[in-house]
Amino acid sequence: MATAVVTAIGAAHEAAVAATIGRVTGVRLVRRCADVADLLAVCGAGRADVALVSADFADLDRGAIATLRGAGTGLVGVHGPSAVEEREVLRQWGVPTRLRTDATPAEFAAAVSVAADTGDNPAEQQLPAERREESDADPIGEELAAMTSGSSYLPHNPFLEPEREERSAAPVVVVWGPPGAPGRTVLAVNLAGEAARLGVSTVLVDADTHAASVAQHLALLDEAPGVAAATRLADSGHLDVRSLAASCPQVSPGLRVLTGLPRADRWPEIRDDSLTAVLEQCRTLARLVVVDVAAPLEEDEELSYDTAAPRRNAAALAALRAATTVIAVGAADPVGLQRLVRGLEDLRAVRPDPPLVVANKVRAAAVGTGPEQRVTDALQRFAGVAQSRTIPDDRPACDGALLAGRLLAEHAPGSPARKAITSLAADLTGVVATTRRGWFAARR
Ligand SMILES: Nc1ncnc2c1ncn2[C@@H]1O[C@H](COP(=O)(O)OP(=O)(O)OP(=O)(O)O)[C@@H](O)[C@H]1O
Ligand SMILES: [Mg+2]
Repeated sequence: MATAVVTAIGAAHEAAVAATIGRVTGVRLVRRCADVADLLAVCGAGRADVALVSADFADLDRGAIATLRGAGTGLVGVHGPSAVEEREVLRQWGVPTRLRTDATPAEFAAAVSVAADTGDNPAEQQLPAERREESDADPIGEELAAMTSGSSYLPHNPFLEPEREERSAAPVVVVWGPPGAPGRTVLAVNLAGEAARLGVSTVLVDADTHAASVAQHLALLDEAPGVAAATRLADSGHLDVRSLAASCPQVSPGLRVLTGLPRADRWPEIRDDSLTAVLEQCRTLARLVVVDVAAPLEEDEELSYDTAAPRRNAAALAALRAATTVIAVGAADPVGLQRLVRGLEDLRAVRPDPPLVVANKVRAAAVGTGPEQRVTDALQRFAGVAQSRTIPDDRPACDGALLAGRLLAEHAPGSPARKAITSLAADLTGVVATTRRGWFAARR
């Protein structure tokens, strides 16, 4: 049976490609799509085995490509003979089979056949070597490879899976916790700050789609481009290490920040596949990535039949799936601990491997005398947590740092909360903590 093909190609080359496809035996051109809605409707209805797409097709973006892939449509990217940028966009969208628009009917036949066979699993798509276009020469890929070589920095890290230590990309530490403001942002911000202070360059990403607040904690301007700009770049296929660095200002030596959404109602801007691409790129920009995410973990499609609709919790889920280390932080009071115990069950559905559990705001007034031991015992007993960390309740230091928009290391370097976070950062990074005071002075 003939392979059903649709085109979604910019006006400059669409007619020529359609004419070539018309000469390919075993392939039937079922539609020349007018726009992205048309493309998604045809493929969503299962009427196409393969879509021929180009980066200059109006409004086509990473999200649409992901939807096509989800529908099981095979993809072949086409680009003008000298359109290097368009080819790079296709590569970033994860369209591995790419052809020049002036390819021969035989080359189109081979590409369509490979795409039809491998469907929505792009990793398996391989064109015969002689038919692959010049994509093997990938200047940006080479640049990234040069930047990341030798960046596996963790000499011995108890919290990272052994196989991940081998990878040259930076580890991703996601700070998650159940609802009730247990201190996710305080921990993420200060963990990132302490890691940078220990000499480990760090990107801090605010991926909280419910109540982003990293910018406020660090007194950064709301207008900073941040995560929305970076995901937009990923959507359009223009995310690379340079454009990411431009979205991600350095706020102190070794610490870059990708600020969160300035308004919570902009959450649909952060799609999971775009955030995954951003986090992957962050791993090439620094030696550690720390991500602050929101609490809710429900998969929204369980609540809605529209699986193509944006999902608010998808950012947290995508970050957790991309994490090399997950920190689960809970408030050390009866309500907070109960939420943490239940939250750990929910987390297990997303990540079966145990997280690093941190009890925050530990104080005798909330749980009784010997609060650290009580909290540790409770987590062991009710959640089977063999090893947990505690951070003392330290309202003066945390309030003061937030008011000043500064890190604990800057505002209250000797505070108990800061010391606990320094020790955690040292363990995570495998770097011995020092007390180099004033190191952050350059930020102000
Ligand atoms: N160890 C601590 N001691 C005292 N107060 C703390 C501590 N950690 C965090 N806080 C305070 O708890 C409040 C909530 O912290 P934070 O904003 O980090 O929570 P969150 O989990 O990110 O909440 P949200 O749901 O808003 O994202 C803040 O006022 C913060 O200063
Ligand atoms: Mg927060």
